[in-house]
Amino acid sequence: IEHLLSAADLDLESATLILDTAKEMDAAMSGREVRKLPTLRGRTVVNLFFEDSTRTRVSFEAAAKRLSADVVTFSAKGSSVSKGESLKDTALTLQAMGADAVVVRHSAAGAANRLTGWLDGSVVNAGDGTHEHPTQALLDAYTIRQRLGRLEGLRVAVVGDILHSRVARSNVALLNTFGAKVTLVAPPTLVPVGVGSWPVEVAYDFDAVLPHTDVVMMLRVQAERMNASFFPSAREYSRRYGLDGARLARLPDEAIVMHPGPMNRGMEIAASVADSPRSVIVDQVANGVLVRMAVLYLLLSGHKGGAA
Ligand code: CP
Repeated sequence: IEHLLSAADLDLESATLILDTAKEMDAAMSGREVRKLPTLRGRTVVNLFFEDSTRTRVSFEAAAKRLSADVVTFSAKGSSVSKGESLKDTALTLQAMGADAVVVRHSAAGAANRLTGWLDGSVVNAGDGTHEHPTQALLDAYTIRQRLGRLEGLRVAVVGDILHSRVARSNVALLNTFGAKVTLVAPPTLVPVGVGSWPVEVAYDFDAVLPHTDVVMMLRVQAERMNASFFPSAREYSRRYGLDGARLARLPDEAIVMHPGPMNRGMEIAASVADSPRSVIVDQVANGVLVRMAVLYLLLSGHKGGAA
């Protein structure tokens, strides 16, 4: 494995290897007083965040530290980016300080891919515009497999602001690789134009989809990426596409509820649903560290897994 840029680059073998390695990481740490492995001692991971993040940034930092790597976290706010320094010069500056892997989040689709041409080390895409967020899809797949025992044949509804969602794009690619059946549920204005070529079904009636769903994955309404014309009002959106207690009751008994965070509680998901026993949102965050440990390990240890 050299880079992780896109969930679409992962074949079934590579994706399964990452999930299995994450599980091994959990097992390897479970007997230890200090939940830390010596695996990447002497290696340096740089977190390069040009867009805001809580979960992904902290999770990659925790993952690298649990593997005993040195971690440098760079946030564009307060850096020389505000003086006009380019992505390339920023990256080269950090490389000169000795980065073995660069984890990058950027508002531009393709930013992680561009970095691979300028850096010697491995590049991990931590979200590039509306394009992809591969480690989110991997941690989601890990969580589904952990809770429901498999991915193949499961019916997954991805609900909400598909148009702006890199999480949706990465999940569609990875869930398809694992043999799950994905239905996108959204208002017509939040469905991408090219969705006809995606391996999904599209539905506009959330209530009709719920009884035939094993996993419901709610997406954040990305108000910062849209203007008022996308939907009539927050109340109307919530009425038609929000997951509240009444809709939760329409799901099959074993179905689980996911959300990548950050959540708009009361908009796409009711607080009572987010905090219900059916919700695996906290598990997603915890599993994110394990999956990112696996990705960093496979990238930096020279494991011949075959991804990307
Ligand atoms: N899910 C996710 O990417 O969250 P952050 O934006 O907080 O990293």
